[in-house]
Amino acid sequence: MADSIDTRIAGRKIPMLGFNGSLPGPTMRFRQGQAVGITLKNHLDDGALVHWHGLRIPNRMDGVNVLTQDVIAPGRSFDYQFRVRDAGTFWYHSHYLSYEQVSRGLFGAFIVEENIPPAVDHDIVVQFFDVLLAKDGKYDEAFRPNQFSTEGRIGNVVTSYASVSSVKAGDRLRLRLINPSIDRIYRLRLSGLVGRIVAFDGMPLSEPMDFETILLAPGQRCDVIGDVRGNVVFRDIWGPDEADLGDIAVSATRPPTPEPIKPLPPNRVPPMQKPSRSAELVLQGGVGGLPHRGTGTWALNDSSGLPRRPFLSVPRGSTVEISVRNETGFPHVMHLHGHHFWERDTAGTFAAFRDSTFLDIGEQRNILVTLDNPGAWMLHCHMLSHQADGMATWIRVA
Ligand code: C2O
Ligand code: CU
Repeated sequence: MADSIDTRIAGRKIPMLGFNGSLPGPTMRFRQGQAVGITLKNHLDDGALVHWHGLRIPNRMDGVNVLTQDVIAPGRSFDYQFRVRDAGTFWYHSHYLSYEQVSRGLFGAFIVEENIPPAVDHDIVVQFFDVLLAKDGKYDEAFRPNQFSTEGRIGNVVTSYASVSSVKAGDRLRLRLINPSIDRIYRLRLSGLVGRIVAFDGMPLSEPMDFETILLAPGQRCDVIGDVRGNVVFRDIWGPDEADLGDIAVSATRPPTPEPIKPLPPNRVPPMQKPSRSAELVLQGGVGGLPHRGTGTWALNDSSGLPRRPFLSVPRGSTVEISVRNETGFPHVMHLHGHHFWERDTAGTFAAFRDSTFLDIGEQRNILVTLDNPGAWMLHCHMLSHQADGMATWIRVA
């Protein structure tokens, strides 16, 4: 359900949108392998669609207009039904005029629990979100061209929503960090917690990883398991000004868990295969960018918006290595629907298995993907202002 709601952000009451009357929308929790049925009832006076970000589900449930379903008209409803095969941290959000509807609050966490979850004292969802407020303190209704052609529509209020607000020193936490902001990148510094990264974009790492900071570009997730040493404070050090994003307070002390932090049970993923073909995806446009032949501000391989012909059309099961190159003057984060892919790291090995890859200015990265899910799948920048102004394409898996 999608409604108009009054919500409290940075101490102020602001009219926003929400699912089931809340912002973020209700956290959905399921068990791995479960069959899920969710009815979307559209109470907006605009169209609506929901995309289940990061879930490897049948194409007709993917929630993308033009490619997978029609927009749900005001007053109408749609039943989403699928089985959740992967355990992990996912999220859901509007995929219709998403730069606007997500910025107004149409998003929420989607958690799939392992059949044998790791032993922790608290499993906490933390979502980082920003809003652009106008001078009157209300959601800024104006969408200006420069919000689409630069780093995006960056809010002037930043906040975090943590599902648990108080813990004990010594507690072991699982933090499920999610960035549902439309354009804002966070580089998180966590204090008060000693732990390791156990998953990116819902997919477990084979070995937990130490970290100093965690980069969360729009749409990305990161799971951390760690032990509380003091107030758990989230700071953002992306950009020139550090910002305090919120915290989880410590109320008491208990003896810490002696057990080491172990990897999460793996999801069943395709074996890593040699690519049968390669492709190149060039990110173009924006303020100060080189000219391109697309019709929007941004383009992928000289085309803006969903082209009539897909960027790639392959038989099911094909493995493709894609070189993604950012030729623009801004960072981007490329998200593929219906699949995860291996990201080649700076050491040249394919390590993290993700659904969204971050490309800083001038950066190039290879990803390896086995396209085993039939259908028409969107591939776009998850800075939703960039997506809205051209940075989108699609892949057909036959
Ligand atoms: Cu999270 Cu096409 O989106
Ligand atoms: Cu972008």
